[in-house]
Amino acid sequence: MTDPVAVMKEEVGKAAAARVQSGTIVGLGTGSTTACAIAAIGDRLKTGDLKDIVGIPTSFQAEVLSKQYGIPLTSLDAVDHIDLAIDGADEVDPQKNLIKGGGAAHTREKVVDYLAAQFIVVVDGGKLVSKLGEKFKVPVEVIPMAITPVMRAIAQLGGEPELRMGVKKAGPVVTDQGNLVVDVHFADIPDPVGLEQTLNNIPGVLENGIFVNCTDLVLIGEIVDGQPKIRQI
Ligand code: A5P
Repeated sequence: MTDPVAVMKEEVGKAAAARVQSGTIVGLGTGSTTACAIAAIGDRLKTGDLKDIVGIPTSFQAEVLSKQYGIPLTSLDAVDHIDLAIDGADEVDPQKNLIKGGGAAHTREKVVDYLAAQFIVVVDGGKLVSKLGEKFKVPVEVIPMAITPVMRAIAQLGGEPELRMGVKKAGPVVTDQGNLVVDVHFADIPDPVGLEQTLNNIPGVLENGIFVNCTDLVLIGEIVDGQPKIRQI
């Protein structure tokens, strides 16, 4: 039986890939939904429907997938802009603010997604929330030597920090930059803009997964009457 969430991810990935134009610089996000977009961009390149694009990957995962699907890559040192970035999210609120970092890639994602002239978020319907923090903890990337004071500072802010542990790897998750990730539960996030800044002001924090005022378009994959549909906000 086909997994409906997998169907939603594939459809929304294709819908985002269809918006990529020839001759552009494209930010390539991280995660299972963006992986579908990367595959669909690769398909368009293969058929010749899309030409002369260059990608900026947001993670080791995005880099590996892009190479697998034949997408030429470059780095931020070689370009002066990004036309479009496509990326997933763990939560999307009605203002199109996001929590990201379920794949521990939010630091590079924030650099690339914020630089893009247009930032498209691709999610399945399960990611929509009325308030950030409703279902997902806020990921915070921390340099290893500062992990204890940073976790203490976060607790003083009212958060409940938890060091992210590896799966099929003993010990903590280590990011593409060699840092650690703390997932923080907040009972309430009344001011996402303020919390994003407050967390980043703790010495030793590299970046957190709250993305505010940066999303241009959210493409949502849904199943309506048994059929996959794309809705946009
Ligand atoms: C990576 O760190 C994340 O920001 C992902 O973009 C986010 O977790 C969404 O991933 P999925 O598409 O796999 O749910």
